[in-house]
Amino acid sequence: MKEENIDVKNILGLKLPTDPRWVNLAEIELEEILTDHAYCEQKAATTCISLIQRYPDRVEMVEELSPIVTEEWGHFRMVLAELKKRNLQLGKQRKDVYVNKLLEFQKKDGSVEDRFLDRLLIMALIEARSCERFKRLSEGLDDEYMRNFYRKFMESEAGHYTLFINLSELYLPKTKVRQRWGQWLKYEKELMESAEVRGDRIH
Ligand SMILES: [Fe+2]
Ligand SMILES: [Fe+2]
Repeated sequence: MKEENIDVKNILGLKLPTDPRWVNLAEIELEEILTDHAYCEQKAATTCISLIQRYPDRVEMVEELSPIVTEEWGHFRMVLAELKKRNLQLGKQRKDVYVNKLLEFQKKDGSVEDRFLDRLLIMALIEARSCERFKRLSEGLDDEYMRNFYRKFMESEAGHYTLFINLSELYLPKTKVRQRWGQWLKYEKELMESAEVRGDRIH
């Protein structure tokens, strides 16, 4: 996807743009944010694998997500290489408040289809927010090399967002997907409003 096609506000549908202070904070703590980023990529790969394990009968999904696992793991390796190049260390994985809060919104007692839909939409949402954050970094950082570094991730994650929405609409009625997506966006907006702005985290 080309950069000019990525209109974060309108295409991704997010209800609240990132606090502008975040880019500056993020720039300060490179080792922390790269570490956090690496684990975001690892979790994306891991979650795609668990979707495949959980729903092996969804043939199209399995086919579509298999290469995404490779791609996300490739992202992990890119971040790891960047840390190494700068003599920085991959730190420990921190508690992921953002993702944990999103998981609280997942339907626990719905039908199999409801839970399946939520699993796809939570991925779409994390991809959308990650894309938005990478876009901020690709525009707001002083270092040109790092701006380009994050632009590559922004483009990939925008594609993943679209993929998870498309998969949702492949397996479930469009109106149901749209309705639930709207609820997710609203929930995420509230979550972002109450979250602390921290420069050592992607989310
Ligand atoms: Fe990624
Ligand atoms: Fe992704």
